[in-house]
Amino acid sequence: MQFQVKQGAVQDETTDLLVVNLFEGATEPSGALKAIDQALGGLVSQIIAAGDFKGKLGETQMLYPSNGALPAQRVLITGLGKPAEFNVAQARKAAAAAAKKARELGATRLATIVHGAGQGGLSVADAAQALAEGTLLGNYRYRARKQNDSDNGKPALAEVVVLEADADKLEAMRQGVAAGQIVGEAANWARDLVNEPPNYLTPREMARRVVERAEAVGLKAQVLGEAEMAELGMGSLLGIARGSDEEAQFMVLEHIPQGHDLASLPTVVLVGKAITFDTGGISIKPSENMWKMKSDMGGGAATAAALVAAAGLNLPVHAVGLIPSTENMPGGDAIKPSDVVTVMNGKTVEIISTDAEGRQVLADAMCYAARYQPDAMVDIATLTGAMVIALGPDLAGLFCDDETLRGRLMQASQETGEILWPMPLWKPYRKLLDTDAADMKHTGGRMGGAISAAIFLREFAGEQPWAHLDIAGTAWQEENSPFAARGASGFGARLLTDLLAAYAGDR
Ligand code: BES
Ligand code: MN
Ligand code: ZN
Repeated sequence: MQFQVKQGAVQDETTDLLVVNLFEGATEPSGALKAIDQALGGLVSQIIAAGDFKGKLGETQMLYPSNGALPAQRVLITGLGKPAEFNVAQARKAAAAAAKKARELGATRLATIVHGAGQGGLSVADAAQALAEGTLLGNYRYRARKQNDSDNGKPALAEVVVLEADADKLEAMRQGVAAGQIVGEAANWARDLVNEPPNYLTPREMARRVVERAEAVGLKAQVLGEAEMAELGMGSLLGIARGSDEEAQFMVLEHIPQGHDLASLPTVVLVGKAITFDTGGISIKPSENMWKMKSDMGGGAATAAALVAAAGLNLPVHAVGLIPSTENMPGGDAIKPSDVVTVMNGKTVEIISTDAEGRQVLADAMCYAARYQPDAMVDIATLTGAMVIALGPDLAGLFCDDETLRGRLMQASQETGEILWPMPLWKPYRKLLDTDAADMKHTGGRMGGAISAAIFLREFAGEQPWAHLDIAGTAWQEENSPFAARGASGFGARLLTDLLAAYAGDR
């Protein structure tokens, strides 16, 4: 998708789909929409007066200009919602709704204004970034392995023209659009990885793709195989990997910003769970919904995407991405309930359910993080079914006892619309992990299952501020929404990029 920012007016633009907007509650068109209304002889005013288009967020209204009234083939009004609720996340959603419509129509050329830089009160750069991001996210769909489908006739947007009358705003708009493109493309790449079938996206293939993209944007990238992991003492990750014929991989990505003294920058380590398929292992899952467990590498995909975006934006922060990846399979050599493994930091762990594999691979990865002496560490994982039950598909759990890190994550959540909800790291539940067979067991029963998982991870978090994001409910969306296609959401890619930007002092 190519973006172009240019000086011009909507009523003069030749395009497949011209996008303008309306706030909910507006009684008459203003700004660009007013110009369209005039060109169309009051048609927009008529629609508003009839109450047929209210301007709700996610609502769209298509108009077909009669011969010659406008050079645009179609006009789409996208709702911005209530002015009092408007923010950068709403602006992004309004753009996404329009771009999703464009995909359904098969429009390849779109022209638009930025949403919310006038009445909405956003800065020009923020509005432009939200526009580019939203357009990429809304236009996305995954059809990589479909051969004969009517959808194949519906191409992606090829060209997006962003129109602005005021020449003084063009430069800020170009910068915002460029940033939005980097972030939106990274998030869509994460979605591609998650949507990809697990026979294609094995740990080795994931590592290959991650390294390829990482190196293309200038990240330092390294992959450890099982022999190297054994040397490091990653008995926990390797324990999980035993049930699979596919070799486990440990990806290490590092963003070393250009033009800065690395030692003077904050170091943030992201750790992303990347189980390319979770059968449950010997504690095998019921078959009905097992197929969705191809999304069990969503945390790893988000981590890789955030690193890619950080490099693209050249954020002045030392960011490290650690992505432990394996299948969780019930092979003949698989780990068993009551087996004891030794984590890289020497702690012994009794396995109760081989389906609690995520925390086992994260434990070793979080120990590995110590070598960077980070200022903050955030892990992100599709970790527990309990989280899905507690918060549903819209919200991810945030477990963090450090006020500053929690504040930054909540702020990033607001900005990106990837919503986090605070959850307790309730210390007394540590006793749920007591066992005679090892230093600890790794599960604490069904009740409070998301919390005891987080309490387990804390044992490997080190001393610096640490946060755990449980994205089990948000990584995979069952339903289409006005803003996004169902399937992989890419949840966390934009959030973590925004967090890195906060550490970079960009905000
Ligand atoms: N990957 C799953 C968690 C999950 C469930 C993600 C549903 C997305 C949707 C994880 O590995 C798992 O199986 N967790 C177990 C832990 C239990 C055995 C303590 C669970 O939540 O059932
Ligand atoms: Mn599992
Ligand atoms: Zn899992």
